[in-house]
Amino acid sequence: MVDATKPAAPPDTVTLTINGQQVTVPKGTLLVEAAKAAGIDIPVFCYEPRMAPVGACRMCLVQIERMPKLQTACTTPVADGMVVNTVSEQARDAQRDVLAFLLSNHPLDCPVCDKGGECPLQDTTFNFGPGVSNFYEPKRQFVKPIPLSPLIALDRERCIMCYRCVRFQREIACDEALTVIDRGSYSEIAVSEGRTFDSPFSGNTIELCPVGALTSIPFRFRARPWDLTKVPSVCNECAVGCNINVEYRNNQVLRLTARANPPVDDGWLCDYGRFTYDYVNSTERLRQPLIRRGTQLVPATWDEALDAVAAGFRRIRDEAGADALAGVISPRATNEELYLFGKLFRGALGTNNVDHWPRIPALDGPFGVDALHGSIEALERARTILLVGVNPIAEQPVLDLRLKKAANRGARLIVVGPEETDLDIHAAHALRVAPAALPDLLAAWTGLLASEGGYDQVFVAHRTTGFEAARAALAGNTPVQAAAATGLAEGVIAAAGRALAGDGPVAILYRRDYATGRPDDPYLAALTDLALLTGALDEDGVFGGLVHESNAQGALDLGILPDRLPGHRFVGTPNGLGETWHTALPARPGRGWREIAGGRSGVRALYVAGIDPLAPPAGEAPARPEGVDFLVVQDLFLTATARAADVVLPAVSWAEKDGTLTNLERRVQRIRPAVRPPGEARPDWRVYRDLGRRLAESGFGFSSPLAVWQELAAAVPAYGALAYGALARGGRQWPLPEHAGPFAFAAGRGGGAA
Ligand code: SF4
Ligand code: FES
Repeated sequence: MVDATKPAAPPDTVTLTINGQQVTVPKGTLLVEAAKAAGIDIPVFCYEPRMAPVGACRMCLVQIERMPKLQTACTTPVADGMVVNTVSEQARDAQRDVLAFLLSNHPLDCPVCDKGGECPLQDTTFNFGPGVSNFYEPKRQFVKPIPLSPLIALDRERCIMCYRCVRFQREIACDEALTVIDRGSYSEIAVSEGRTFDSPFSGNTIELCPVGALTSIPFRFRARPWDLTKVPSVCNECAVGCNINVEYRNNQVLRLTARANPPVDDGWLCDYGRFTYDYVNSTERLRQPLIRRGTQLVPATWDEALDAVAAGFRRIRDEAGADALAGVISPRATNEELYLFGKLFRGALGTNNVDHWPRIPALDGPFGVDALHGSIEALERARTILLVGVNPIAEQPVLDLRLKKAANRGARLIVVGPEETDLDIHAAHALRVAPAALPDLLAAWTGLLASEGGYDQVFVAHRTTGFEAARAALAGNTPVQAAAATGLAEGVIAAAGRALAGDGPVAILYRRDYATGRPDDPYLAALTDLALLTGALDEDGVFGGLVHESNAQGALDLGILPDRLPGHRFVGTPNGLGETWHTALPARPGRGWREIAGGRSGVRALYVAGIDPLAPPAGEAPARPEGVDFLVVQDLFLTATARAADVVLPAVSWAEKDGTLTNLERRVQRIRPAVRPPGEARPDWRVYRDLGRRLAESGFGFSSPLAVWQELAAAVPAYGALAYGALARGGRQWPLPEHAGPFAFAAGRGGGAA
């Protein structure tokens, strides 16, 4: 009978009772998740919400009214009116028995197991298991451990056959590197025949393993979990910006573990990010400033070194003008460091010779904002995904997992580019096309969609600015012309083009370094038209060129380019920055690293921060760019570039600094210092501040990275829209300006001109 006093449950939900408690959850929810939503803990091992349920371990048995046998909560969907008991005597007995069986062969070597202290088997046994064992037979034994790869060891006798590792590789990494061999109690996890366990995501299996069967070889026996201090941070190895915990002891970083931020990383890390930390602990790190005396670099105090840098830059400015000075910085530096570096050169020294390296062309497109439209998370809701020249597994690895997830959920993948990628096997269409032929191919698709799909090309032409010449050159391109340019069959081109016209959100991700950055760039023109026609610029779409370095987007946003200022403003346009900095800014664009490295740029004093651009081929001595007679290098190590310098300043690593990074989807996230830097190495922001104090009358009074952020946020309105506290809690995407209008443009998609 319906209880009229109770509000009706929303549609598409079911209401059930668990341990006497009423719970309303969406239809299709698994019982284990419904219980969790109600704060009821059902023990699990094989269940992992990011993977399909398998019901392998039987740990989650519960009693359901009117069902004759106990059921596994991890495979049973909820039903309206279901009455569940997770703590009945029968359920408790079953949970104890399952644990007793799992432990019958488990070695209980917790005191020497790396997982001890953070082991779900330990915790579940403590909370749900039997106090004593009835088994006295000898336990199964294996030779231990065996390396599955140079990074992962397997102690087979600890394995409880939950298959999490095998399922991760198969379902998430889509790489069947692991398998199960033999049967019954002789079953064991193994590398698939003919394979090596070289998956770039293999480290995730260590964290997924609910016992100590899979352990990290670099971390094995180095510390107990309770000895480690965890500091939340963000991986610095690529532009995805996966969230991590930096775990250290005795001022040594001992491991990096995933700290799930689902919109960014889904809780995964790639091996490159997970295992790249040894250099932070290196004894080769620079510990104090060095100054060149004759042919030797000799130790100096910070005051001596900073005075020498300021004097060197001042002398050359007096002799040759401000445009004889230049600074090049790594796009892995924090936003605060990038901002201060730009301010030091533009505001204090008076030159726009500022750049980051490695760099790809800045692309303004028709919208005036060089940033990705949409988000990483939106990729998994896309129904059609076009990848042009990108290879995320090599450059943005965890993004590759998101694309595979989308493909597994039914998204149609179209992969185009010169090289084979691991995504080809998931693609509805995978076309090998040389970069030079891409504009023809993309324009042919635009023409095809316009002529066949009711899409209005005139609408696009009216609403985008720039690219007129490129668009005119590409207009009327057809699959016939594209076939001649690409060498592909006309039918293949047409079939892939028609696949772009499906229902639902569209995502287009493209390789940035095929673009020239010029307003007549046919590649970007063709991509933009296609994005407008297909809806990749709609509110639920994704469109953008992928950046690679961890803060390349921050470098673009903060104007670390010879012709841009913070906030994507061009040098020489009204920008208000001079008022904020209380100084007149140079009006002409400066020189970039390519020009400086090529010589004859007129640059005589060069500051290189966090990069080694002068590393020569093996056996050759590093050479300064022609004309440079004063070189300052700030880095962690005495690199080739540093060996050629006049002054070397010891810098700090990402694990030792505070600040923010902006990932490839415009998400600004906070990093925090975990360990102390070696010797006298100083945070980079402090070095730029102290140089600014020597070279400018005011404007460098900052006392912390937060103080730098506050000025940065005032100078760059998009960053000013972000609450600083939120940057450490998952981060925030800075908003695309509404006037840039991708959403407005897209309103007329497929429906004729407005
Ligand atoms: Fe499960 Fe670990 Fe065994 Fe893999 S190795 S099946 S994750 S217990
Ligand atoms: Fe349900 Fe393993 S957690 S069967």
